[in-house]
Amino acid sequence: MKDKVYIFDTTLRDGEQVPGCQLNTVEKIEVARALEALGVDVIEAGFPVSSPGDFNSVIEISKAVSNPTICALTRAVEKDIEVAAEALKFAKKGRIHTGIGTSEFHIKYKFNSTPEEIIERAVKAVKFARNLVGEVEFYAEDAGRTDNKYLAKVVEAVIAAGASVINIPDTTGYTLPHEYGAKIKYLMEHVSNIDKAILSTHCHNDLGMATANTMSGIINGARQVEVTINGIGERAGNTSLEEIAMILKCHKKLGLDTGINTKKIVPTSRLVSTLMRMPVQANKAIVGRNAFAHSSGIHQDGFLKKRETYEIMNPKDVGISESSIVLTARSGRAALKHRFDQLDIKLSKTELDETYEKFLDLADKKKEINDDDLMLLVNRERVADRSIKLISLQVLCGKNVQPAATVTLNYNGEEYTEAALGNGPIDASLNAVRSIIKQKFRLEDFVIQAITRGSNDIGKVHMSVEYKGSLFYGFGAHTDIVQASVDAFLDAVSKALK
Ligand code: KIV
Ligand code: ZN
Repeated sequence: MKDKVYIFDTTLRDGEQVPGCQLNTVEKIEVARALEALGVDVIEAGFPVSSPGDFNSVIEISKAVSNPTICALTRAVEKDIEVAAEALKFAKKGRIHTGIGTSEFHIKYKFNSTPEEIIERAVKAVKFARNLVGEVEFYAEDAGRTDNKYLAKVVEAVIAAGASVINIPDTTGYTLPHEYGAKIKYLMEHVSNIDKAILSTHCHNDLGMATANTMSGIINGARQVEVTINGIGERAGNTSLEEIAMILKCHKKLGLDTGINTKKIVPTSRLVSTLMRMPVQANKAIVGRNAFAHSSGIHQDGFLKKRETYEIMNPKDVGISESSIVLTARSGRAALKHRFDQLDIKLSKTELDETYEKFLDLADKKKEINDDDLMLLVNRERVADRSIKLISLQVLCGKNVQPAATVTLNYNGEEYTEAALGNGPIDASLNAVRSIIKQKFRLEDFVIQAITRGSNDIGKVHMSVEYKGSLFYGFGAHTDIVQASVDAFLDAVSKALK
């Protein structure tokens, strides 16, 4: 049987300490429910004594979720512990996470204390907490910079006092992976009662080593990891949950498992990013926009021949439907053909060769080629199944002329012609369309884009229209931007009236 690594999620405590990312109680409950569905073992729901909001959130999260243990943070202070216990009263399984700084910096400068006195305070806090809740976790703050011999003494004392989980935080993100691993190994070998507790990692990412340190901790015996969704947290953040869950899933030889339903990783990442208003960087491992996007021709060719050539994970395992092939000037014919196949456009070898030349020409001028560009390259517009088609368009405009347009449409099989005025040729044309359709559409967004340079360019129009409270997107492309605009409008309107 595989050994279990427990996932302790601190998105709602260490993660929520990020400036500007504060959530209200309703939002926290939504995240907590998502974490429960994701399969985390422990949710650190807040630091109850720090504010009435945190206190209330711990209460409401305790009521809202049933499977994970709910954990509340405290300092090694009786008042904090009492308040935390009160906040946890509705938790099916409650845990107090209490602790104190153990490094020389903390003992000397933060507490103006001595190593012996720190152990006394730690033991007292654990005993006090143990009388109020079923489970106590102890953190030795700045354990990363704490002398191993002294740390072992602290750990032994708090286990004897009743702590069953011992958190070894690399609070400042300073420790090197082999040092962090050696610290965990040292504790596993030198703490006489270590069989009565599990060691937990809590690594910060100040030097980009949080995940490496956490893995090193696991490999050396830690069986709980403290992590956050998207790696958010104080300063450069904490270890990301998704990275550890996928490392353990991909490296089966480690013989370790988490209870994470990995298919929920990306949806949970998006939820947290949206609610916390914190975008995920495009190249973030597992959950970044580009994490499964292949852009170089060599990679695309290999990937299309066999996915595993350039992918170590299946995107479906993290909740993404498929990898994307980004078409750029570096893409080859194989990638172009693959995309056309997906769009159900069959090209002969000669057609593909010709289109590939045009594609390279366009890709040199544009960064990324999207599906609309491809349609234009093969002259197929997506109008076939529209209920409204443009039959003709005539426009009058120029200096000192009132812009006017005459439009003929095929609308549900019948032809209609109308003329209208406007403040410009596009406005006049859309007014003529409106008088045929006789329904209220409000233009929300209207963007005209030239694909290449030069006056013979294709103009692309992206538009969104509002109809009965909903937004519909339309696209049109033509060398005549008035026609492109009418096409985009009809595209959106057809969708709205479908
Ligand atoms: O980084 C840290 O040391 C912490 C503790 C409060 C657990 O977040
Ligand atoms: Zn922390």
